[in-house]
Amino acid sequence: MKLAQRISRLGTESAFEVLAKARKLEAQGKEIIHLEIGEPDFATPKNIAKAAKKAIDEGWTHYTPSAGLMDARKAAAEYISKTREIKVDPEEVVITVGGKPVMFYTILALIDEGDEVICPNPSYPIYESVLNFIGAKIVPIQILEEQNFNFNTEEFEKLLTPRTKLVILNSPANPTGGVLTAQDMEKIVSALKKYPDVAVLSDEIYSEIVYEGKHVSIASFPGMKDRTVILDGLSKTFAMTGWRLGFGVFPKWLEPTITRLTVNSVSCAAAFTQKAAIEALTGEKSAKAVKKMLREFKKRRKIIVNGLNEIPGFSCKMPKGAFYAFPNIKNTGLTSPDLETLILNEAGVACLSGTCFGRYGEGYLRFSYANSIENITKAIERIKQLSVKWKTAVTSNP
Ligand SMILES: Cc1ncc(COP(=O)(O)O)c(C=O)c1O
Repeated sequence: MKLAQRISRLGTESAFEVLAKARKLEAQGKEIIHLEIGEPDFATPKNIAKAAKKAIDEGWTHYTPSAGLMDARKAAAEYISKTREIKVDPEEVVITVGGKPVMFYTILALIDEGDEVICPNPSYPIYESVLNFIGAKIVPIQILEEQNFNFNTEEFEKLLTPRTKLVILNSPANPTGGVLTAQDMEKIVSALKKYPDVAVLSDEIYSEIVYEGKHVSIASFPGMKDRTVILDGLSKTFAMTGWRLGFGVFPKWLEPTITRLTVNSVSCAAAFTQKAAIEALTGEKSAKAVKKMLREFKKRRKIIVNGLNEIPGFSCKMPKGAFYAFPNIKNTGLTSPDLETLILNEAGVACLSGTCFGRYGEGYLRFSYANSIENITKAIERIKQLSVKWKTAVTSNP
């Protein structure tokens, strides 16, 4: 029997592959420090877990409407209205099983074979995977270290054509920690004005993890809300990756199609997680917990960036958001995939090659600092010891 041809175009998320390799080494008795997976190591705030348990006891264990319980849609609409300073109607919200389906459904709903989609590179690998699956023409826009891990907005303007259907933005960004500023956004919006039929998928899953200034959504710029999909969810903000609860804010004209895709795929998100989402998005205790996690991430950020900068051949910029450090490793003389393997096998530290996020990720590694200070410090020490292996390359290629 043969698989359908289109399946060969579906990619994957390498973090899970590196995790599998790391687990194999652990099964052989090696102690691995996990800096590959992008999930907060904190427990889900207690008030949210309590709300879910209460919901189960009250019988919230059945199907809900596909777009979600109206109370959950209302909570998400209020949360986005408040945090993005825009007016969102609950009817524009679709509750999804994690944030990922928002990108899948949006691409499925909007993109025909051959349509051009501008996609940051390096970026979250699922964008490219789904775009390839659909047969889109991916137009990469390079994320540049020298632009604080943003793209050049003049270059962006040049990539827009009458065939462009969708632009993907991700701020704060995975894997670089880059954050688009209001000035960047203004330039993007101004370029998009010439192409009124281009939609934007704005992945804002890390919106609460910003260390300087405030998160800015492209949807808050005049004329943009009606052509923007905001992807958000509970996974990163509230340390709830395993709960699988996300949501999208869609232009009114798009919401019915997204709901239909939900009917055709998962029917709805679990009822009691939707109830927990209301507590997450509106509870005072959840907001406090988010602030506490952010303070801890900020401490770790400093430690990991300082540590990475002490490793021969590495240089690391201070990320402005999310919980990833993205050091430049070009002076080690090794390729990113080789260094990823060496560090895993010989230092027992799992991290990701920048190429897991696209070809412009060559020359970089991604380290998630969603791990304890103790483990981060240990990981840096181990890599420092291992660096004798590439020190020669550094001295001969300064
Ligand atoms: C940029 C980005 N968007 C979306 C997601 C998916 O989030 P979720 O786990 O809620 O599906 C991730 C997860 O790593 C991510 O990094």
